[in-house]
Amino acid sequence: MTKTAFLGLGHYVPSKVVTNDDLAQMFDTSDEWIQQRTGIKERRYIEESGIGPSDLAVPAVQMACKNAGIEVSDIDAIIFATLSPDFNFPGSGCFLGDKLGLPGVPALDVRNQCSGFLYGLQIADAWIKCGMYKRVALVGGEVHSTALDFSDEGRDVTVLFGDGAACAILGPIEEGNRGVIDVEVHADGSGAKDLWLEGPASAYKPRITHEMIDNKTVHPSMNGRHVFRWATSKMPEVSRSVLERNNVAIEDLDWVIPHQANKRINEFVAQKLEVAPEKVIHNIEKYGNTTAASIPLALSEAIQDGRVKEGDLVLLPTFGSGFTWGAALVRL
Ligand code: UT7
Repeated sequence: MTKTAFLGLGHYVPSKVVTNDDLAQMFDTSDEWIQQRTGIKERRYIEESGIGPSDLAVPAVQMACKNAGIEVSDIDAIIFATLSPDFNFPGSGCFLGDKLGLPGVPALDVRNQCSGFLYGLQIADAWIKCGMYKRVALVGGEVHSTALDFSDEGRDVTVLFGDGAACAILGPIEEGNRGVIDVEVHADGSGAKDLWLEGPASAYKPRITHEMIDNKTVHPSMNGRHVFRWATSKMPEVSRSVLERNNVAIEDLDWVIPHQANKRINEFVAQKLEVAPEKVIHNIEKYGNTTAASIPLALSEAIQDGRVKEGDLVLLPTFGSGFTWGAALVRL
């Protein structure tokens, strides 16, 4: 039976490092508060205006293709998961396809925030299993820094997010036990406004006003404690569901690579799942929360530094704005 294999991973982050102390120069916060509450030490921001998620994705895709042993021209479909598309329309996938020199290759944008990579993985898995495409570039890419509120009012959200991109090249595999075993995703829009970016909005006429800028509607806002509670409940729940459905015990897992939203959230999740802390991979201290890019970025780094190896059994749980959440079980 055809399965979907991770053929190669790649990632890219901009060179500009922004430390907690740098943020403390701009608004009322401290390195101590940020590290204690989130585990974050620094994050990356684009170096200058004009760099979008599709630009960050180009080197990530090139690296993933190299690691997969394919040419960029072999890609026959793009899925681009992002909550911060380069422009309102068209989607970042179209910009990326053009920048990679892939005219005619279909490009689908997925707008499922921190769960975007898993939603994209479920789609890619279905495409590949049914024989529609053979080399899918599944990208998570974000530029958050251009939307953040660098004043005291925005500090709870601004300290969390960073820019970056990562890509998985996915393709069919006929033999062996490697491949995507299962992907389960969910959504509950009753929490949509607990973590959102309201404007500019097509629901308003005009879509943007000076008042919206003055009221800070153009920056993301969050009900942090509420999101925290949901994340620490839904991530273990969906993880257990995927594991049980596939008769996999926690002890069978080689690694858990959760979405990197807050190190404390992931410590809670690990505790609830009773998974050994040393099996849980995190890089939030270096990059903050890169939403759709966070899981493939952590996976790509862990493969690059030799921790995660071919054949390892990996659980990928996530939770984010929407609310959306999910978990994937993959034999790499
Ligand atoms: O990708 C998924 C989406 N995001 C998440 O999963 C994030 C979920 N939420 C969280 O991670 C946490 O709620 C935060 C890290 C955002 C906040 O941590 P918390 O422990 O829930 O803090 P809090 O919101 O309850 O605020 C505690 C205090 C407040 O001051 P008072 O009212 O106790 O005087 C805040 O005003 O910390 C204050 N505070 C800050 N202080 C320094 C909030 N943000 C900051 C800040 N620096 N950046």
